[in-house]
Amino acid sequence: MAYEHILAEKKGRVGLITLNRPKALNALCTPLIDELGAALDVFEADSEIGCIVLTGSEKAFAAGADIKEMSERDFIDVYSNDFITDDWEKVAKCRKPVIAAVAGYALGGGCEMAMMCDFIIAADNAKFGQPEITIGTIPGAGGTQRLTRAVGKAKAMEMCLTGRIMDAEEAERSGLVTRIVPLDNLLENALETADKIAKLSQPVVMMAKESVNKAFETTLAEGVMFERRAFHTTFALEDRKEGMSAFAEKRQPNFQNK
Ligand code: CAA
Repeated sequence: MAYEHILAEKKGRVGLITLNRPKALNALCTPLIDELGAALDVFEADSEIGCIVLTGSEKAFAAGADIKEMSERDFIDVYSNDFITDDWEKVAKCRKPVIAAVAGYALGGGCEMAMMCDFIIAADNAKFGQPEITIGTIPGAGGTQRLTRAVGKAKAMEMCLTGRIMDAEEAERSGLVTRIVPLDNLLENALETADKIAKLSQPVVMMAKESVNKAFETTLAEGVMFERRAFHTTFALEDRKEGMSAFAEKRQPNFQNK
């Protein structure tokens, strides 16, 4: 499928989506969000795809929601149309794992979009921030919530109140990103990681993702019980049997996703 603002391609069992509005530093305009949602739907429905990587350019993952598109909108318009719409949340709702490979600016909606992914791998030039306050607004795609959960209140509050930008080192130190890799290796590293996940049992991967995400939505006791039931459920799968048999027989498992 051809898109105007993104590229979507299959790399073996990995679906790669590249934000592609270089002149606007991948600002997240509505047509881009629509295309991103469509590409995610295609990869979700494709049984050959086991993991998705979302990336941008070397200069910008995304420099935020499109300020030029937003500038003329008024309260009744954004309220009636529920902007930022649920379409933005498609990344967060995706059942297959989504890895953000972030180089350059991940600001405002760009930072929020990266945080909607399951984890972030950062290039050494990555910069994260919620600078909305400097243009007279606040984060609108989950930034105040997800950044706070990722880095804690002190840093999230400072960043949302001042617009201060965090470099890759600080982002790793604070738990916002899983690791930093040299810019030249970013995509290779993210694709390798995604490929590892895509080769595992897909229903088990989904259960692991659902269980980790539960930690953000519920009490510890409920989360632990959810995890235990999901763990029990893996025992209904042939893949669980295959994984443990392969370990005992000192061979690689051959998962069938069932
Ligand atoms: N929306 C629309 N256009 C944007 C944009 C954005 N968020 N960010 C950059 N651009 C455009 C610029 O307007 C410029 O276009 P023109 O050449 O047509 O003027 C082009 O991208 C290149 O940008 P700069 O010339 O500014 O590049 P720079 O290297 O000097 O600066 C930057 C880079 C620091 C990222 C700067 O572009 C910047 O501050 N961008 C805005 C960041 C921001 O405030 N993001 C939050 C947006 S609000 C939001 O996201 C709400 C939400 O929660 C969903």
